[in-house]
Amino acid sequence: MRTKLVVGNWKMNSGIEETKNFFENLIENSSLQNINHLMQVCICPPFTSLNTASQLLQNSTIALGAQDVSVNENGAFTGEVSISMLKELKCQFIIVGHSERRMYFKETDSLINKKAIKILEHKLTPIICVGETLEQREADETNEVIKEQINGVIENMSNEDLLKIVIAYEPVWAIGTGKNATSKQAEEVHLFIRKLLTIKSNINVSESISILYGGSVKPENAKELSEQENIDGFLVGGASLKVNSFISIIQSF
Ligand code: PGA
Repeated sequence: MRTKLVVGNWKMNSGIEETKNFFENLIENSSLQNINHLMQVCICPPFTSLNTASQLLQNSTIALGAQDVSVNENGAFTGEVSISMLKELKCQFIIVGHSERRMYFKETDSLINKKAIKILEHKLTPIICVGETLEQREADETNEVIKEQINGVIENMSNEDLLKIVIAYEPVWAIGTGKNATSKQAEEVHLFIRKLLTIKSNINVSESISILYGGSVKPENAKELSEQENIDGFLVGGASLKVNSFISIIQSF
């Protein structure tokens, strides 16, 4: 059975004070005790809040993640953060290839692939994002775009590597817009991604990879999306900033 995973991506929100408040409320919240214990919850605060979050999560089953990482190990790369630094902070997951990084920082499938491979070498879990723009969806290019992205981001990965990655399908037109993909639209792409993964490996491997949906996930739409066979969790932006909405999304599984 695939692990269910709900990840909060805080983007460039929540400094140290807000992070403290959030985790104190989250950890105290009794509804969190009742969640399905087969599921994993992870939060990815901005870099400057990771240390605070890491300390507050010391005795918790909630995992910590980062929103990006350098492809380089260390050295003269001004402004970058390395995987070893994130490991020191006890990060277990790292998001790579978020559409905002692709769009604003010109990250390519090839760079995202290199980052994911480095993350695997360090025995952490990359959450690799893919997704089409509105223009591409309207031009009926979704499958073509997803195929190119998936094949690019998993290049040179062995079956053993593939078993350790997480994929997040995030249609760009659904991110931060309040307009989520319908459960049918999301399930279609998730199934397509699983088929692509089967072609690259085999059915046992592809059936074990968790594929998350992201893009305007909120308490009101989480249940229906979570019921789709190939949706194994969520990557949640805006709705992960508030404890109550994040918990009710977690509870949809
Ligand atoms: P959103 O963001 O939930 O605010 O749409 C999701 C994401 O970008 O990961």
